Amino acid sequence: MQGLVQRLWPAHCHIGDLAWQRTQHLGREDEWPTALWWRGDDVVGWGWTHLPGHLDFLTADPATADEILTWFAETATADRRTVTVADNEPVLLHALARHGYRPADEHVHHYLARDLTDLPDPAPPPGYALHPAEDLRRRADVHRAAWHPSRVTEDSYRVVSATWPYRGELDWVASTADGSYAASCLVWLDEANAVGELEPVGTDPAHRGLGLGRAVCLAALHALRDSGARTAVVFPVDSPPAHPGAMALYRALGFREYARSRTFASG
Ligand SMILES: CC(C)(COP(=O)(O)OP(=O)(O)OC[C@H]1O[C@@H](n2cnc3c(N)ncnc32)[C@H](O)[C@@H]1OP(=O)(O)O)[C@@H](O)C(=O)NCCC(=O)NCCS
Repeated sequence: MQGLVQRLWPAHCHIGDLAWQRTQHLGREDEWPTALWWRGDDVVGWGWTHLPGHLDFLTADPATADEILTWFAETATADRRTVTVADNEPVLLHALARHGYRPADEHVHHYLARDLTDLPDPAPPPGYALHPAEDLRRRADVHRAAWHPSRVTEDSYRVVSATWPYRGELDWVASTADGSYAASCLVWLDEANAVGELEPVGTDPAHRGLGLGRAVCLAALHALRDSGARTAVVFPVDSPPAHPGAMALYRALGFREYARSRTFASG
C-alpha cells in the first residue's frame, strides 16, 4: 500500500498516514477489511474498508477503481457508504460518479505544503527544551493529552516506532524542566519523493498558546530538511471546535493549501 502511494505521489495520503493510522491503536484489524489488486509483482490498487461503511482507496487505473468499489459494496455492512478522496484525483472522482456516489459535506481535509527553504529557527519559550523523543511512555502521554480522548498507549506507540518509515530523529518533542513532554511533532519521510509529512502534531492543553506547537514543528522541519527532504506536507481536518488551532498554526508556519478532500456517499 505504501509503495503505491509513493509511485502515485501526490495522493490523498502519504506513506506516513498509512503507517500512523494503521498502527496508532492496537487490535483494530477486524474493523478494517483490506484488499490489494496486483499486476504481476506490482500493487496497482488497494481498498481499505473502515467498517461499517467507509472506504479509503487508491489506484491510477479506472478498471481497478471499478473493481475496488464493487468489492467495497460487498464488504461494507452499513446501508450508507462513504468514500473520501482528494479533489485532485480525477481517476477516483470519475469512478465514484460511475458508481452512483454523490458529494456529501463531511470531514474536509486541507492538503497543505511548504518547501523547506528559508525555515526560521525554532525559538522555544523559556523553560522548555526541544529534542527527539527518547522515552516512549512520555511520548504516548503527550499525544494522549493533546488528542484527548485517545487510545494511543506506550505499547501502541512501540508499534508505531517499529513501522516503516519511522525514524527516531524525526520524532520531536518539547520537554519541561521536570522532563515531561509538553508538545510533539512526528514527521514521516518519503525518501523517494523527498517529501515529509507531519502526522501527528499536538500540544498538551496545559501548555498551549506559548509557541510550543510552532517551535516543535520548526525543529522537526529542520531535521526533515537535514534528512534530504525538499517539501513538507500536513493534512489537518477542518472540524472546529475540535482542532481550532491547527490551520492557524500551519499557516503561521508558511504552509499553503494545494488541494482539499471530498467525501462522497451512496445509499
Ligand atoms: C494546534 C495545536 C498543536 C497548537 O499548539 P500551540 O502550542 O498552542 O500553538 P502555538 O502556541 O505554537 O501557536 C502557533 C500559531 O498558531 C496560532 N494558534 C494556535 N492555537 C490557536 C487557536 N486555538 N486559535 C487561533 N490561533 C491559534 C497561534 O496564534 C500562533 O500563531 P502566530 O505564530 O502567528 O502567533 C494545539 O492546539 C493542539 O494540540 N490541538 C489539538 C491537536 C491538533 O489539532 N493538532 C494539529 C492537527 S494536524
